[in-house]
Amino acid sequence: MCGICGYFGAEAVKKVCDGLKILEYRGYDSCGLAYVGDGKINSIKTLDGVDELIKKSEGLSTEMVIGHTRWATHGAVTLNNAHPHFSASKKLVMVHNGIVENFKELKKNIDIDFYSATDTEVFVNLIEKESGSLIEKVISASKKVKGAFAIIVLSERGEVVLGKRETPLYLSTGEKGVCVSSDVLALDGEKIYALGDDEFASIENSKILFFNKNGKKIVKKCEKIEKNMNFSQISFKTHMESEIFETKTALIKTLKKYKNEDIFSLIKLPKNFKSVVLVACGTAYHSSLVGAEFFKSIGIDARAYVASEFRYGREILSEDTLYIFVSQSGETADTIASAKLVRARKLCTLALTNTPNCLLNRVCKSVLPTFAGREVAVASTKAYCCQVFSLYLFSAYLAGKRLPTVQTLKKIPLLEFPREQVEDIAKFEKVFFVGRELDHLTALEASLKLKEISYINSVAIASGELKHGTLALVDETSIVVAISTEKRVKEKLRSNLEEIKARGGKIIVLSCFDDFADYDLVKIEKFADFLMPIVSIIPLQFLALRVAEQRGFNPDRPRNLAKSVTVE
Ligand code: F6R
Repeated sequence: MCGICGYFGAEAVKKVCDGLKILEYRGYDSCGLAYVGDGKINSIKTLDGVDELIKKSEGLSTEMVIGHTRWATHGAVTLNNAHPHFSASKKLVMVHNGIVENFKELKKNIDIDFYSATDTEVFVNLIEKESGSLIEKVISASKKVKGAFAIIVLSERGEVVLGKRETPLYLSTGEKGVCVSSDVLALDGEKIYALGDDEFASIENSKILFFNKNGKKIVKKCEKIEKNMNFSQISFKTHMESEIFETKTALIKTLKKYKNEDIFSLIKLPKNFKSVVLVACGTAYHSSLVGAEFFKSIGIDARAYVASEFRYGREILSEDTLYIFVSQSGETADTIASAKLVRARKLCTLALTNTPNCLLNRVCKSVLPTFAGREVAVASTKAYCCQVFSLYLFSAYLAGKRLPTVQTLKKIPLLEFPREQVEDIAKFEKVFFVGRELDHLTALEASLKLKEISYINSVAIASGELKHGTLALVDETSIVVAISTEKRVKEKLRSNLEEIKARGGKIIVLSCFDDFADYDLVKIEKFADFLMPIVSIIPLQFLALRVAEQRGFNPDRPRNLAKSVTVE
């Protein structure tokens, strides 16, 4: 998380501010910039977002600027902890994305009065203590640092050095200068370079020199990197709303790409292909759970794991398994670490990602892209639907089934949850989402969406499990949203709902069946089974959005969260 950006050339302040605006999705606890002026380093910081930073830096003209937008890891959200961070002598300033895992140990050996609680201040002082040129100092300090990092260091003499490990950093050169950024979308310049792990660079008079971890100069080729991620032009009040409305276009684009391009046949499968393991975090984990069901339904054994557990777990890795790592951003630290672990064993790895050129794509052997377009809102919506859809299409391809038609997708309704029920749910402090089979997986995702943007305490549970404990929580202060699209188990769900009703719990049912007409029913259309997780999650995404709005929260900027989770 955290976005870093630097510009060295004409209009540097504007370029960095424009870059930070794009990078704000990586964290918005605070932001700031530092620049060289009158032979010393100055900084401007704010807790009020990039627009405020732009106001505060109006009229400033300088050709060397580094900037940062923060998702707090070490230290509270205060101006003192906001980046950029200075060394004790004020001769160096640094922006940093990542975590110095051994910062406490390193801090003990640096005898200064620290002004912040950040690991970054430790890092920049560690650099200052080293000897040699700035590039030599940065490289030797980095060797002492444990953990992932991307940094840009600026000296009062106008020297610039950057480096990275396990978190992205890109450079570009253009007519006006050199740009550095955590995300290609925030770069300004035509020729783009992707820094590798433990690689460093120095920038002098628009000239870039690259170095490896031993300080040896290396040659890096500029890469052809797709910067064009359409959609999300924000045609509605919030990004989240715009993105839900883009779902159908995104699904159609994904289907057309798979039909017209040789994407599936390029995926490297294991020799005696028997099973699939899916690894992901958050919403992507929920789409993986649905995906596992698709693979099982064609006779391929499949399991989904939360990446932060998988990477330290006891899973027995096997040559006949395809390991699929699912991630919208392709930057999630735990997912990438899990993929590296499997790749190191030379097993088949597949990245299912929505961001071209992301780190995860570089780690895995094969890539299955989704074409949801850029997703800005922290809560993932259209990307989730595309992940579910892609996993289905891939399973259909493996089973030799015909892929669905664009006409079918065009019929998917972008159904709002009825206003009256939204208002009802917004009043409760406890919301349960229940369902069985695939509907249980949809319940998990619906519950995550609701809690992350409306801060309502919500639990999702397989409805058959309720009476084994959780039912104790159900009373007149809670509301239950039941999802029913699985014909096989609809009667079973009904019995579970009766049990809830008997305990005074209020119930709303989202279903494609008329059987629930005696309940407060939100009726959805029936489509082929594989499409039902998509058809049913859309109104539930709207539900979360409208409840958040009703409670006066900005759904695009939920507290404590960021779009891209680059720390473990
Ligand atoms: C929730 C949400 C997160 C992400 C998770 C993984 O709405 O978006 O739970 O799904 O942080 O992110 P990616 O998919 O980028 O790996």
